[in-house]
Amino acid sequence: MSLEKVTVRTFRKMKEKGEKIAVLTAYDYFTARSLDEMGIDSILVGDSANMVFYGAKTTLSITLEQMLYHTQAVSKAVKRALVIGDMPFLSYQTSISKAILNAGRFLKEGGADGVKIEGGKEMIETISRLIEVGIPVMGHIGMTPQSIGKLGGYSVQGKEEKKAQYLLESAKILEEAGCFSIVLECIPKELAKKITSSLKIPTIGIGAGPDCDGQVLVVNDILGLYEEFKPKFVRRYAELGKEIKKACKNYIEDVKEKKYPAEEESY
Ligand code: KIV
Repeated sequence: MSLEKVTVRTFRKMKEKGEKIAVLTAYDYFTARSLDEMGIDSILVGDSANMVFYGAKTTLSITLEQMLYHTQAVSKAVKRALVIGDMPFLSYQTSISKAILNAGRFLKEGGADGVKIEGGKEMIETISRLIEVGIPVMGHIGMTPQSIGKLGGYSVQGKEEKKAQYLLESAKILEEAGCFSIVLECIPKELAKKITSSLKIPTIGIGAGPDCDGQVLVVNDILGLYEEFKPKFVRRYAELGKEIKKACKNYIEDVKEKKYPAEEESY
């Protein structure tokens, strides 16, 4: 692993070399530092924080201030990975000038290297302006959780020809506008492959099969720290939720049974 800072140019070069891009979410200093030390290419400070960190049912209610707080904690820890701040619901949809000011805060105050914005070709004016003023943008199409109301639930997108066409067109327009990468969430693997091969910028898949240029998952999901729901595409690499409960149970028992603190743990 090169120790050089990952930039948006590194992303593009990795695609050219056929080198897969590994991305995870993080919301706090310790996790971000661990991921960075282990060689993650990019950390997304996702608005999924609202669900897996805060316990909400959707991503919708997280505020810009809360996202900035998480982004600062992550940026403080990271030396190498590309840090992307996820723009929360209604922080970029109401006007282009608000989108610029809010996205700029992720860079100026959050220490992020870029921002992620949900939406396809309908978001193009906003995305183009952000890129024009110098803010690197990652697109996000397919199952976009901020549109959960409109989509009617967390379901695979782009199964029908018309929607698949919209997603392919959107991806091309996002690339033309200057996005440095695009997240493809919950779309059929054949469609993800087609989109990936028609773009020069890397696609980062989540529930979009093996042919994307990179993969992203929510860190709590891979660590077994989110027990409410496990989508089909999640692979668990640890069961930390169970470990935490076991450790806490042991501590409680030790206190109740006067086994903690021992002599050597006392002054
Ligand atoms: O908020 C998030 O974590 C995301 C990823 C799952 C792509 O948007």
